Amino acid sequence: MLKKYCQEKMQKIDQTLDGLLAGTNLYPPEIFEAMRYSLFAGGKRLRPILLMAAADAVGGNGEDYIKVAAGLEMIHTYSLIHDDLPGMDNDDYRRGKLTNHKVYGEGMAILAGDGLLTSAFEVMLSEENVSPKVLVQVVRDIARAAGALGMIAGQTVDLASEGKVIDINTLKFMHQTKTGALFRAALESGARLAGGGPEKVEALITYAEEFGLAFQITDDILDVTGTQEKIGKPIGSDERNHKATYVSLYSLGEARSMAQTAVDNALAALDGFGREAEVLREMVKQLMTREK
Ligand code: IPE
Ligand code: IPE
Ligand code: MG
Ligand code: MG
Ligand code: MG
Repeated sequence: MLKKYCQEKMQKIDQTLDGLLAGTNLYPPEIFEAMRYSLFAGGKRLRPILLMAAADAVGGNGEDYIKVAAGLEMIHTYSLIHDDLPGMDNDDYRRGKLTNHKVYGEGMAILAGDGLLTSAFEVMLSEENVSPKVLVQVVRDIARAAGALGMIAGQTVDLASEGKVIDINTLKFMHQTKTGALFRAALESGARLAGGGPEKVEALITYAEEFGLAFQITDDILDVTGTQEKIGKPIGSDERNHKATYVSLYSLGEARSMAQTAVDNALAALDGFGREAEVLREMVKQLMTREK
């Protein structure tokens, strides 16, 4: 069920992104080529899928908000391009291909990220299947999540913590912002766009926060135990960069058990939902066995 759901949604997301960034009239072609390169390199599309699944879970139809979902994936892809730059994690592979700066150079990779981030807001604000009032609230929440109170806060702590031992609260804050904030924005936006009531929205926010934490803990684990072939990015990047991670601070077993606790908390947050949240349950459960 989950596989089919994700495949269907991925197809819609890809179609939408393709339509937005296609055409011979786009000038200059270099910037659109660099943006498309990373956008279509084979990401899992988790954030837009979660946005749609949240809308479905409160009784709406996620596909009605495809432009907001596509914008979220553009923001995420920009964050990966910049995260891989020499001044940040200095990684050569992403999504199974050379990183953007390895192909187009650092200057173009910075611009490709800037282009994706900024154009994402134009795309999201062109969504017509929702009232302007709700759309403004949702886009403001997404901007906050991507900005200096959200993902950028986390990326700042990540850089500042290189080579240091940090305490568990700082580590948790870093994971909940650098990664959790966009997941939270995905679930909250999906629920709000589809008119979910306050209790459902709150429950989905809790689910998202726990999902984001479990996701980044398992990302830290895969950086040690994964294979480049499967995850599409280099193994051992965190150790090379002396990053503070759940694996640098704890044993693999402890990190796994903390990820499992987050997964259990996410599932508990969905207690008030029935079958309509089954996709969300499946998605968080599969984090513990993911290989990519
Ligand atoms: C990678 O995210 C960056 C992190 C927050 C750990 P994903 O693992 O969702 O990357 P893609 O989109 O599938 O490439
Ligand atoms: C990155 O965390 C989170 C982002 C905001 C991009 P990581 O640096 O661990 O992500 P990967 O492992 O490179 O995908
Ligand atoms: Mg990083
Ligand atoms: Mg990285
Ligand atoms: Mg990582």
